[in-house]
Order: sequence, then C-alpha cells, then structure tokens
Amino acid sequence: MRIVLGVGGGIAAYKVASLLRLFTEAGHNVTVIPTEASTRFVGTATWEALSGNPVSNSVFDDVHQVNHVRLGHEADLIVIAPATADLLAKAATGQAGDLLTNTLLMARGPVLFAPAMHTEMWQHAATRANVETLRSRGAAVLEPASGRLTGADSGPGRLPEPEAIFNAAMALVQGQSDFQLPLAGRTVTISAGGTREPLDPVRFLGNRSSGKQGVALAVAARNAGATVRLLAAHMDVAPPAGVEVVPVETALQLREAALAAAADSDVVIMSAAVADFRPAAVSDTKIKKRDDRDDPVITLVRNPDILHELVELRNSAAPGGRQQLIVGFAAETGDSDGDVLAHARAKLQRKGCDLLVVNHVGTDKVFGQDTNSVVILARSGSEPQEASGTKAEVSAAIIGRISGELNSVSPRA
Ligand code: CTP
Repeated sequence: MRIVLGVGGGIAAYKVASLLRLFTEAGHNVTVIPTEASTRFVGTATWEALSGNPVSNSVFDDVHQVNHVRLGHEADLIVIAPATADLLAKAATGQAGDLLTNTLLMARGPVLFAPAMHTEMWQHAATRANVETLRSRGAAVLEPASGRLTGADSGPGRLPEPEAIFNAAMALVQGQSDFQLPLAGRTVTISAGGTREPLDPVRFLGNRSSGKQGVALAVAARNAGATVRLLAAHMDVAPPAGVEVVPVETALQLREAALAAAADSDVVIMSAAVADFRPAAVSDTKIKKRDDRDDPVITLVRNPDILHELVELRNSAAPGGRQQLIVGFAAETGDSDGDVLAHARAKLQRKGCDLLVVNHVGTDKVFGQDTNSVVILARSGSEPQEASGTKAEVSAAIIGRISGELNSVSPRA
C-alpha cells in the first residue's frame, strides 16, 4: 500500500517515527511529508532514513514529478500525525500553501487525522468546528488520548500510541466505519505481577506470577487507545512502552497505589497475584539460624482485599450510577466443594466486581506460560464468555469485552 504520512509541528512528532516503522515493517511504501514547523522537532534526515524515500514539504522540489498532484492521487491512505490545531484548520479550510496541504486536497483515498494538542486547543470552538467540518466531508478524525501532556497538565489531547494509530489506520483502509479506538479517552489501571511480602531484608514470601498476562492486557488496552497505568508488582517481563508504570512491592503498597489510581480511572483491572497474608513482623536484620534456639515460626496476618475495597470505594463514590468498571481475576482449582466455575461464581459475588476473569490453574498451567485459557464471568449474569490462545489474544478478548461493557457509559470528566 502507498501511504503518505503527514507530520505536524507538535512535540508528539517523535512518536511518529515508531508509527512509520510499524507501516514500513508491515510492507507499506511510506512517503513522509513533514510540515516546516515539525522539522524543528524531528529532522527530515530521520524521515528519509526510516522511510527510504525522499522527504520534502515544498511544491518546488522535483517539480518534474508533479508531486503536489501525484502523491495525493496515488496514496491508498493518508495519515496525519500529530494533527495539530493549525493543520486541522488548514485542512478544514482547504488551504494549499505547501506540499502536505496540496496532497490533502488531492486525496482520493481514506484520510486519518490523529490530533494532538493541549486540551484547551482541542476543546476550543474553532477546533471543534474544524473537526466537524473534516468529519462531515468523510475524513476520519481520531479522538485523542487523555492523560499527561507536554507540561505538568493533563487531559484529552495526547497523541494515541503508535500501535493504536496503526490499528485505526488499518481498520479505516479495510472499510470499517468503526475505526475509532474503542478505549480512546479512557484511563485504564492494571495491576500486574505478584506481590512480595518481606520477612527480613533478604527474604520474602512471593508467588509464581510472571506478570505476562498483566503486561499483555496493558498492551491491548494501549492499542485500543486507552491511557494505561500499570501497577507493577514483581514481574519477570519488562513493562511495555507507552504506559505509565508505578512500581510496587507489597500488597499494602499495591493497595495504596490502586486506591489512588482508581480516582481517575474508567477501568481498574486487578490481574496481579496479591498475597492474601503477610508476615506479622518484619525483622530489620537478617534472621539467623541458631542452635541454641527453636526454629523460627512465621506468623501471618491477613492483607486487605484490594479488589473488594475498590468496589466499595466505587460504590460509595457514585451511588446508583456505575461510572467505573472493575475487573478481577481468579485463579481457581476445582475441589470437593465445587468445580472451577462454581468457585468463581461465588468469588464474583463475594468481591462484587463487574467482570471476573477465571483461570483454571494447576502446577503446569498459567504461571509463566505464553498461552492461556479463561472464562469471563459477568455480575450482570450474562453468559460466560470463553477466550483462549496466546496471552495477547486472550488480552485482546478481555479488552474487547471491557470496551463493550463501557459503551453505554461516557468517559469520566
Ligand atoms: N486480590 C486483591 N487483594 C487481595 C487478594 C486478591 O485485590 N488481598 C484480587 C486479585 O488481584 C484478583 C482477585 O482478587 O483479581 C482474586 O484473587 P484470588 O487470590 O484468586 O482470590 P481470593 O480472594 O484470595 O480467594 P481465595 O484465596 O479464597 O481463592
């Protein structure tokens, strides 16, 4: 496919280098047209080297090739990222002062704008009108992500992550009218890995969770356009790019981080393996073996049930109206009291969360593996949904289900 990638003059231009890589690695021929302002953020050498094509934004370069007509005509897809307020205005008013705007006027195929700007600019009546105009003419304008902007401020206006723009572009080319990212504007908090409860400065009680499922969920949520916060307990895998990572060690630290993160989250997914108990006392010094004393006995105390607390917090904050979706995980084995699903249903009731993702565990199953098989139970009582495959596939199914559940709820202010 021939793709024209127009780069606007915003700080998010640096993320577009990764988007370009995604396009070229998928086998597409990409011509990058950076605005003059954008070359103050990322130079043309970067675009030429990564795309393998010449780069210019002047209608007077290679005039014999009539680029100002040809590029737009030949393009199977035009993607503008970051689409600044200025570029949206120029496109909406049909200006043709440079090669990029000429190309937009010549476009015959799908055009995708991925806006990025400060919240005030995005919400300004002028920008709203420009976006409406472009949409009414058939252009696809993505909703920006919400979250941390260039300075200390945060709100809607962040460029979605490169994988998310890539997915939206492919959906658009395949003619899907629903190219919008299902979690655009949503904030998703995900706990991952396993907590470690210290006994002394060198020892802890831990568990076998690798964090792979939580990380795969973070990737799927990010690729669906969400702003993702990963509360990372001990993990064997690295956190993905494009998500905010909050490292935690113990269940109590995770509780604090989760309750704080929940305040502005549309979705909270508790996929971490949280220790139900911690040692009652933590020794300041290493516990030594001594022949003149009995072997030490470890006394354990209960950790708070974070998932349950999150549900209570949500319910007390918004009586009557469900504004936040809370998802728990359950690692279950069947026993004489009931099979896996019976235990899971009881847990769903006990915890009060909206969805419960049920793993059937045994020593050879789930922990550290790359594949998984789960059943998603809903408190609403709808049919259990099965999902299996790689942890990425299972995560995509879980995030798809969450997106569906959120459809009827508008993003948190
Ligand atoms: N969880 C939590 N806080 C805890 C323990 C668990 O938030 N102290 C969360 C997990 O992240 C998971 C869900 O609760 O989403 C289920 O955890 P699990 O350990 O399987 O359930 P338990 O409540 O511990 O029940 P049981 O040990 O009886 O199976």
